[in-house]
Amino acid sequence: MNMLKCQKHLFQLNNDIHYLNCAYKAPLLKSAEKALLDSLEKERNPYHYKPNDFFEITANICKSFSQIIGCRAQNTALFPSTSYGFASALNNIKSHGGKAITIENEFPSGYFALEKWAISNKAEILVIERGDKTAQNWNNHILDSIDDSTDVVLLSIIHWMNGTKLNIKEIGEKCRKHNAKLIADGTQIVGAAPINVKELNIDVLICAAYKWLFGPYSMAIGYFSEDFHDGNPIEESWMNRSNAMNFSSITDYDTNYKPGSARYNVGQTSNFMLSPILLEGLNQINQWGTSNIQAYCQMLANYLKESLNPMGVEFEDENYFYPHLFSLKLPNDINPETVKIQLENKNIYVSLRGSYVRVSINVFNQKENLDALINCCHQLLG
Ligand SMILES: Cc1ncc(COP(=O)(O)O)c(C=O)c1O
Repeated sequence: MNMLKCQKHLFQLNNDIHYLNCAYKAPLLKSAEKALLDSLEKERNPYHYKPNDFFEITANICKSFSQIIGCRAQNTALFPSTSYGFASALNNIKSHGGKAITIENEFPSGYFALEKWAISNKAEILVIERGDKTAQNWNNHILDSIDDSTDVVLLSIIHWMNGTKLNIKEIGEKCRKHNAKLIADGTQIVGAAPINVKELNIDVLICAAYKWLFGPYSMAIGYFSEDFHDGNPIEESWMNRSNAMNFSSITDYDTNYKPGSARYNVGQTSNFMLSPILLEGLNQINQWGTSNIQAYCQMLANYLKESLNPMGVEFEDENYFYPHLFSLKLPNDINPETVKIQLENKNIYVSLRGSYVRVSINVFNQKENLDALINCCHQLLG
């Protein structure tokens, strides 16, 4: 396999900044910028929009996304945010055992959706704390907590604050065994590493589009397994009915939804301005290949680790580490807030999440960006 080369030429990133923060927001691809401008131009004369245009872009997005996560296009649906996707999924889960499980510091869009579900289903939420456990012990604790009383497990495939890996495959297997549903937040991994929903036993996968999928803000996309295909959507868009293409007969009020997960699509799914950005992002990811993206990030992450380890900076255990998103464990006497400010003074952009300095790498980054970070850490840590 040939190593991917740096792809910075496909973006308009400023040359004097070191953007190590794709987990915050992806930069815009040049091709996406062009696609957006083309759409904007089309708005000048709306007669350009033919009935097919209202559906084709969504179909293309679903097809491209389904290739990334290893499912059929008709198992996917589009939303304005992950909270919408979580609500759609949970709306179709009934409680049989009275227990929902999530993890410490799960992203609030997932947590609040689960909390609401638990209240309306008179179920309890079990939050599996990490505390000072190793990643492996934490994962074991999550697995041990799944039993016959579990209705649903909702958690991220990778922890969004510090990058710790969750053993999703094993968690999914245990959920299957106990008849519990697994809802996974893929926002911080899908597009950056190979993910196959079938292999991982995921029932529902929800991803915000504006990070590793190179999409725009205000779009999210998800996968629903066949078990959800007779479900109840949280709103009724005319676009999701089987006859939607026939504009002259939509008041026949078709009782049938389009097949698969289409019923969960947000209304006005075509989103003429934003959809072209997402489509460009997804197609570009398929062109690069997620294993190539991950290998490229691994090469850069190895370089960073080798340079920062001798300065006393520690990283997550190798088996629970993802090279595209991780946190720097700084020596105790160093204030992470100060580090972030010092880094920004040198045009190096990372995120502070809790007490973690979160670094994220993608194919537009190169060694030069990491050298800037290494030099700055050298000055701060000696
Ligand atoms: C893990 C995770 N999920 C979801 C989101 C975004 O959620 P929403 O689309 O509901 O705003 C983020 C944003 O940082 C995230 O990190």
